[in-house]
Amino acid sequence: MTSAPPPEAIEAALDAQRRRVRELGPWFHNLHLPSGLQTLPEHPLGGDFPRFKWLQIAPHLPEDLRGWRVLDVGCNAGFYSFELARRGAQVLALDVDPHYLDQARWAAGEMGLAGRIDFRCAQVYDLAGEPGDFDLVWFMGVFYHLRYPLLALDLLARRTRRLMMFQTLTLPGDAVDGAPDCGIDERARLCAPGWPRMAFIEERLAGDPTNWWAPNAAAVEAMLRSSGLQIRARPGHEMWLCTPRADAQAARAMWQPQHDSIVGEGRPSPAH
Ligand SMILES: C[S@@+](CC[C@H](N)C(=O)[O-])C[C@H]1O[C@@H](n2cnc3c(N)ncnc32)[C@H](O)[C@@H]1O
Repeated sequence: MTSAPPPEAIEAALDAQRRRVRELGPWFHNLHLPSGLQTLPEHPLGGDFPRFKWLQIAPHLPEDLRGWRVLDVGCNAGFYSFELARRGAQVLALDVDPHYLDQARWAAGEMGLAGRIDFRCAQVYDLAGEPGDFDLVWFMGVFYHLRYPLLALDLLARRTRRLMMFQTLTLPGDAVDGAPDCGIDERARLCAPGWPRMAFIEERLAGDPTNWWAPNAAAVEAMLRSSGLQIRARPGHEMWLCTPRADAQAARAMWQPQHDSIVGEGRPSPAH
């Protein structure tokens, strides 16, 4: 039987972990490490972020994700990847920022989850060249950071086998039922409250130049439907859980040729 390490050894290990957390900062995700240490307990967004969001979403997901292939887009320090891996999923986690990926890889080791998650430095658009679908696509906190948000949404919707968890920053206002058409002389209706709308941000929002767009809830729901998804639940503010629409192919017929042309799918090479 091995004896428990002496208290000094435990304190020294904790000190080393605290140092590593500091070296890897600044953090955006407050991760709870197995030692009890947290990476950002005083979060500027308030509360225990993103755990409070996860607690709203978690009851809507299957407890057992064994056999599920999950894609976490914009994984940051990996909070959601860790929760999904704990439920048994195999996760591909992408982010463009090596700083956050360093945090995620280190934390995965601390949590003993490294074997379940493949962290990769990549743009969401890089998926265009990758074959394969995902049972669950996790697309939270990234849409509004993209210059080409619908391209990304369409790309991801087509790779969603069972569920997509979507979150974006929004404009205030509730979603209303969309209208199928608007006459050319009736365009004032496009300015009515509740019409699907997306504000373009040329410089910055909240001091952040990577915030490009802010859609209202009506626009979010219209875009999700139009990309071939059906909204199943709203687990919390600015969050939508979706499944593929039964008529997804018909929904995509209007934009599929544009999408395929951009991502180079189904197109003969220019040499032919
Ligand atoms: C606001 S954070 C959201 C993090 C996490 N998904 C969440 O919901 O807590 C946005 C993350 O997306 C990453 N990101 C931004 N643009 C991206 C892109 N084009 N492709 C992949 N990741 C991107 C950022 O580096 C950052 O880690």
